[in-house]
Amino acid sequence: MTKTIYILNGPNLNLLGQREPEIYGHDTLADVEARCAEVAKGGGLAARLLQSNHEGQIIDWVQEAREQAAGIIINPAALTHTSVAVLDALNAFDGPVIEVHISQIHRRESFRHQSYVSLRADAVIAGFGVQGYALAMQRMGQLVGDSA
Ligand code: DQA
Repeated sequence: MTKTIYILNGPNLNLLGQREPEIYGHDTLADVEARCAEVAKGGGLAARLLQSNHEGQIIDWVQEAREQAAGIIINPAALTHTSVAVLDALNAFDGPVIEVHISQIHRRESFRHQSYVSLRADAVIAGFGVQGYALAMQRMGQLVGDSA
């Protein structure tokens, strides 16, 4: 059976392409989804991209992933820097977790330098723009695919 990778996106990422394009670029989340689906397919995986502005919904999807997904790629957006609850949910997930940030968070405001999610993440990608999602999916292919 094809393994599924969840790609979870936190608050305001529904506005990708419109929101602060000088920081986050012009690609939309639909573009990210299409690119990730392509890379996933190449690695024999399936991608399921989800976005919510609500912390509880992100937690529910992480919990759902325990049954439904082989790995999680997550851009928690602002929840990165605030949410112990998202961290706790990820700690209850057994597969690989890759944290993605479109921007280079360590070059930005100091409050963005702290990530609760990094305490769980097996890898972190920041500053590659939306390409970071595709890189994360490529790595997932190695971590959960047949070649792992
Ligand atoms: C972000 C960085 C966060 O600090 C910010 O709150 C976001 C997006 C990124 O992808 O660069 O919403 O996670």
